[in-house]
Amino acid sequence: MSSPLRLGIAGLGTVGIGVVKIVQKHAEMLARRSGREVAITAVSARDQMKNRDADLSSYRWETDAMAVATAEDVDVYVELIGGDTGIAKDSIEAALRAGKDVVTANKALLAVHGQDLAVLAEGLGRVIRFEAAVAGGIPVIKTMTESLAGNDVTRVMGVMNGTCNYILTRMESAGLPYEAVFEEARQLGYLEADPQLDVGGIDASHKLAILSSIAFGTQVDFDAVEIEGIERVSIDDIRRASDLGYRIKLLGVAQMTARGLEQRMSPCLVPADSPLGQLVGGTNMVVVEGDSVGQIVLRGAGAGEGPTASAVMSDIVEVARGVRMPVFGQPAASLTAAKPARTAVPAAYYLRLELQDKPGALAKIATVLGDSGISIDRMRQYGQHSDSSVPVLVVTHKTTPEAIDYAIETLPGTGVLVSDPVELRIEEV
Ligand code: NAP
Ligand code: HSE
Repeated sequence: MSSPLRLGIAGLGTVGIGVVKIVQKHAEMLARRSGREVAITAVSARDQMKNRDADLSSYRWETDAMAVATAEDVDVYVELIGGDTGIAKDSIEAALRAGKDVVTANKALLAVHGQDLAVLAEGLGRVIRFEAAVAGGIPVIKTMTESLAGNDVTRVMGVMNGTCNYILTRMESAGLPYEAVFEEARQLGYLEADPQLDVGGIDASHKLAILSSIAFGTQVDFDAVEIEGIERVSIDDIRRASDLGYRIKLLGVAQMTARGLEQRMSPCLVPADSPLGQLVGGTNMVVVEGDSVGQIVLRGAGAGEGPTASAVMSDIVEVARGVRMPVFGQPAASLTAAKPARTAVPAAYYLRLELQDKPGALAKIATVLGDSGISIDRMRQYGQHSDSSVPVLVVTHKTTPEAIDYAIETLPGTGVLVSDPVELRIEEV
């Protein structure tokens, strides 16, 4: 057997400790599968005195992650600190320059600095692996870079933030408003330290930007993602969408069009009986469509100690086996700077309008939609909400986001709305 692969792990939180536990529990199995022993030599975190639910006594403790990243007795630097700046980025760069390969779960860093890091790593002949960065335990990076390498990917989409999916499905099952379930999620410890990363759609957009790069051979471009979080999703919309046979999901979609690369993260309606519509709780799902393979659906735990550490270990074993691969599946120098395009692919839309209950109100709405070039597929009026208003739902035929924006701007001018109209895209899945 070859010499051991020596790991230096910085970050001993949820994921870091999960990795330590797998290395300890499955030492023999990992050695068989890797063809060499996988050994931890040095670790680092902020607080050495913290109780970490794992025996770390046989590893050298470094107070500075930089010391782990550059240690002579470390072959692979495993960065599990997080954050797109500061020590995570600095230590990864230092590790690459010191001749180490890098394994990380840091989606924020890769989404923002992925191209520069890939250029640096490949220029130095090193690898960066990041299976855990997208959808936790789901092996989507290896699926796309390896198993689907023979496909022209036409679209990649998914539910990639478990916290948002938990909030949306719990609102529906318990009939609770957003604010109440958000508070529940906070108490259950589901939310990131900055909850905006979850509910604002940023965390999921980091993941989408990484997948886009691999799918379309483009430089990762997080700034080009059109992002909307789930804060405006109301229990009313969840109920009405359900009446119409849909579920609301925070859905990321990336597709290359003739105008450029569309990347959007937004609450969308999906058919309730589709795989995405059936996804409940904190689970993630990624759907990849390729010209030869058709549609692939990957489902599993997107977060948590075991699933995320499982993905990190897959990268470590790959490095131990001697697998060398460009960071984003093709040489960084060959990744093109994609032209970002705002969403223009036509889709059906869901509109919820609260109308004054008086003669001609519906006709005025229909006129605005007609004038906007929007054709109505279905329309449903409910009983009175209050003495004077009725909720009306409209499902449009496929139309452009531009036409919908025009209608949304124009509708208040009819004078028959009692509140702002709500529009949500219906994504074909
Ligand atoms: P976490 O539980 O907050 O742990 C972070 C660790 O980093 C802690 O051990 C902390 O030390 C350590 N740390 C902070 N600053 C440090 C510094 N300057 N030097 C050395 N260590 C430092 O985070 P996590 O959930 O394990 O996430 C780690 C990474 O995995 C992040 O990039 C995250 O986005 C990614 N990820 C996480 C999940 C998940 O389910 N948690 C899923 C996918 C990806 P102390 O313990 O001493 O405070
Ligand atoms: N906050 C993330 C989620 C953790 O809820 O999915 C995993 O990236």
